[in-house]
Amino acid sequence: MEFDRWLEDLPKYFAADNDIVMSHVLAVLSGVFPDGEDYFVRSVTAAKDRIRDPGLASDVDGFIGQESMHGREHRALNDRLGERGYPMAGISRYVRTITALRERIQGEKANLGFTAALEHYTATLAETLLGDPEARAQIGHPGVRYLLMWHALEESEHKAVAFDVYKAVGGTERMRVITMWITHMTFVLETGIWTAISLARDEYARSHPMQVAKSVWKLRSSPFASPRPVRQLFQYHQRGFHPNDRDTKDMIATWRERLFGSEGTLTDLLAS
Ligand SMILES: [Fe+2]
Ligand SMILES: [Fe+2]
Repeated sequence: MEFDRWLEDLPKYFAADNDIVMSHVLAVLSGVFPDGEDYFVRSVTAAKDRIRDPGLASDVDGFIGQESMHGREHRALNDRLGERGYPMAGISRYVRTITALRERIQGEKANLGFTAALEHYTATLAETLLGDPEARAQIGHPGVRYLLMWHALEESEHKAVAFDVYKAVGGTERMRVITMWITHMTFVLETGIWTAISLARDEYARSHPMQVAKSVWKLRSSPFASPRPVRQLFQYHQRGFHPNDRDTKDMIATWRERLFGSEGTLTDLLAS
């Protein structure tokens, strides 16, 4: 991966149509990923030596490898975003503090429950991004779009791993659903608050309140806020739910070929 090179010309408002609020939301999400994913890796690693199923044990190794790589590439993007004025260092510090606190007060199963819940969030975002051209178009900057599409592809590939580890160590349905309710609340709250902080620190946004208001209004028609992903998120609450109930094999195969196939489609993708 050579994302660094593609991010050299990254403008401050890298979302489509130089959209201010969408750029801030995407920056906040990218800011949360590396330290959040480190927490996922620690949660899964803690249970690794008790996994008896060799297939799941090998999936866990794949999961750890993929999440570590995501963290590395998002840090490269986050460094650029920090240079453009987004509060990346603050977000990273916040996520490290919260995850450390969780690990101090929560048990292993709860950490895996939260990891599985957040993996359902990333799988939902991934399916939206890979399944809807309008969602992809909203990303704007080709380098950022490619990074998010690569990340989305791998999130779809390993979407069941944390869930299966949670089940393998005896995680209950009750705790699974409770951790998802807490995740809904914290995700909306944290993303909202950090986006507000990020906007409040942005001098251009502060001096163009009407542009910001229009941009907020536009968010409601975003494919990411449409009923489809919301319905998908809430499927997690169904008794007996499993991430592989949603068959994404064809979508994964198509995008693996398009992103990494031998036809040189990457250049077309970045140019589009
Ligand atoms: Fe990831
Ligand atoms: Fe993941």
